[in-house]
Amino acid sequence: CKVDLAFLMDGSWSIGKRRFKIQKEFLAEVAQAISVGVAGPMMGIIQYDDPVTEINLKTYSNSREVKSAIDKIVQKGGLSNVKALYYINKHYFSDANGNRGGAPNVAVVLVDGWPTDKVEEASRLARESGINIFFVTIEGPDDNEKQNLVEANFVDKAVCRTNGFFSLPVASWFALRKAVQPLVKRVCDTDRLVCSKTCLNANDIAFVIDGSSSVGTGNFRTVLQFVANITREFEISDTDTRVGAVQYTYEQRLEFAFGQYNNKAELLNAIKHINYWSGGTSTGAAITYAAEQLFSKSKPNKRKIMIVITDGRSYDDVRAPALAVHRQVIAYSIGIAWAAPDELEYIATDPDKEHSFFVDEFDNLYKFVPKIIHNICQEFNSQPRN
Ligand SMILES: *[C@@H]1O[C@H](CO)[C@@H](O)[C@H](O)[C@H]1NC(C)=O
Repeated sequence: CKVDLAFLMDGSWSIGKRRFKIQKEFLAEVAQAISVGVAGPMMGIIQYDDPVTEINLKTYSNSREVKSAIDKIVQKGGLSNVKALYYINKHYFSDANGNRGGAPNVAVVLVDGWPTDKVEEASRLARESGINIFFVTIEGPDDNEKQNLVEANFVDKAVCRTNGFFSLPVASWFALRKAVQPLVKRVCDTDRLVCSKTCLNANDIAFVIDGSSSVGTGNFRTVLQFVANITREFEISDTDTRVGAVQYTYEQRLEFAFGQYNNKAELLNAIKHINYWSGGTSTGAAITYAAEQLFSKSKPNKRKIMIVITDGRSYDDVRAPALAVHRQVIAYSIGIAWAAPDELEYIATDPDKEHSFFVDEFDNLYKFVPKIIHNICQEFNSQPRN
């Protein structure tokens, strides 16, 4: 269960001393049940309404220490304002605070009754930055109380799916203990923590790199820099974006597979050390090869993106292989110098003008890095999330 797990605990006056204590006991039981450790879950706590970090993610590396820190937490008072979600989004899950990157970010909001402010926007922003939000509502509104809500259906507005996975209503404070196991089970189900996808953390990206003789050693190095510069923009890990690469001439070579390098430094190093091959140009066969060697091993919850980089006309047909992959892959084509415009359009997913780029010389490739990232993110954000 490797997650970065933050609890937002309710410190409002309305909750009272006794129930605040029950909340602390609940958190201590979660810390025990989840087995905090650097190779597994790390756990932190924020108290709201005025958000205060009680426990940083990186401070304690075992359950015993977390539990004794929980024991020392003092109730701060205030309202039940969940605007603290802005705080976790901007401050809490920062690398300096112990965010590991390779572990999904999970925030569990504990609410006594219902929030005294609106949660929708703060939750959406947090989700868009990749945080998985769970709501545990204790003694939530009954039918008569629903008219008092600041925001109707606040839980549904806060979580990513309304199928119940991300929400745990608890009937009374005395029943809270029973929520420990179900909650731990869910926050550890990392395959289902896929709602909080962003354009930077949710892809399997395959670079299909032309290594033909016309490129030449110096320009090939520029192409690798281009590949590295695009890669650098993404969040890289086994649960975030993964990158694979194929180099081709007449033949094809798998340089590295998805998930072979699971952190950015190793991945950039691997890109840098791709050896220039030199030979012919069979772009069609290379696309088919990328589908077989890379995309067949892609995870179902990843967005599949192929970026083909070529400087010449292909010796084989690109149209049929490209059509075959378009069913599951978003294809970008980057043509340089002698690349054939008609082929670049066949390779690219429609609309071509958003997925196909041409540069007259290798030295101008760098200009397209921000454009490509922008287009990948824009396309991602324009599609329904749930
Ligand atoms: C890659 O990024 C470096 C550093 O920003 C820049 O100097 C270089 O021109 C870029 N090259 C390409 C091909 O994108």
